[in-house]
Amino acid sequence: MEKLQDKFGRGINYLRLSVTDRCNLRCTYCMPERGMVFEPKEHLLSYEELLKLVDVMGEMGINKIRLTGGEPFVRADLMYFIKELSKKSYLDKISITSNLTLIRPHLDELVRLGVKDINVSLDCLDRQKFKEITRRDEYEEVSGALHEMIARGFNLKVNCVVMQGVNEDQILPLIELAKEHPVSVRFLEEMPFNGSGGKVETPMNYKDILSIIEKEYDYTKMIDGPHSTSQNYQIVGFKGSFGVIPSFSRTFCGDCNRLRMSATGEIRTCLYGHSQLNLKEMLRSGATTEELKEALMVAVANKPKDGFAAAEENEKEYLSMTKLGG
Ligand code: GTP
Ligand code: 5AD
Ligand code: SF4
Repeated sequence: MEKLQDKFGRGINYLRLSVTDRCNLRCTYCMPERGMVFEPKEHLLSYEELLKLVDVMGEMGINKIRLTGGEPFVRADLMYFIKELSKKSYLDKISITSNLTLIRPHLDELVRLGVKDINVSLDCLDRQKFKEITRRDEYEEVSGALHEMIARGFNLKVNCVVMQGVNEDQILPLIELAKEHPVSVRFLEEMPFNGSGGKVETPMNYKDILSIIEKEYDYTKMIDGPHSTSQNYQIVGFKGSFGVIPSFSRTFCGDCNRLRMSATGEIRTCLYGHSQLNLKEMLRSGATTEELKEALMVAVANKPKDGFAAAEENEKEYLSMTKLGG
């Protein structure tokens, strides 16, 4: 069977897999405070179904998987699923994007399973501000988990969504984390995935972010890994590094290697695009492995060259990140 490849020759080997659309926080840039409608349990792919679909994609060349949400650890028995995934020899890397509120009891087992690449959503280092942004009072737990994970040698990338007038004063305190510890602190432009359909009124541009940093530090550009979403920089004397993710003003479409599957089985070949197909529906209506593969081949072949530009043209209504495959 052929490997997943689009018609522009981009090989697809990275699956972002959302295991739930639910979250225990309510970050302003991600969800409205009230009125989010979450999927009932029966609409979600079960772990058995997920493992079957991951196997199918593994045969087609997927070798890196990132678990996303919502918050992945909100889903019951997530560690069972991770343990099963860790047995898959075709997976070179299992990583997770998490808000760290629920991860602490699982650290031993994550280390045992070799799952050490965790991207952390954390927009400030201040309890009151955390409460304003996430609408929940979980800062102490998150900060405790972060420091425990640093001490235990997890490979951490901290993601901070920068919002004008809200947390640009947190950029320098967050960068201090990289001074003391070998972590990567990344500043994200806010994208319009807030679940309310609205545009971002005054998005902070990556250049605005860099200009705040350069008032304090001299930094030099690092060589970014292939397919990196972030442009990364080094500061002399720092144990870690920092980066900017210009998700809004620039896209990474050129060498994008990603495929997304939402918790309900929707396949998206682009964050900005529509769902191409629903693998859960196919699976539940008895599709064979060959039929699943064929559908995936077609969806991936049609991955848009520049999905962001296409979405802008169609004035697309944006969903929450949690519905898109994270
Ligand atoms: P790794 O390279 O695996 O570390 O992943 P990542 O840094 O892309 O993952 P993470 O879950 O930390 O996502 C960070 C941010 O990257 C997201 O909030 C988005 O801003 C951006 N991003 C992730 N995937 C895409 C994508 O497919 N397209 C675009 N435009 N932005 C993305
Ligand atoms: N804009 C930018 N980043 C977002 N995230 C969630 N919603 C948005 C948004 N509207 C981030 C989270 C997480 C990552 C997967 O996506 O902070 O770190
Ligand atoms: Fe939850 Fe992440 Fe969305 Fe915040 S950004 S509400 S932590 S899914």
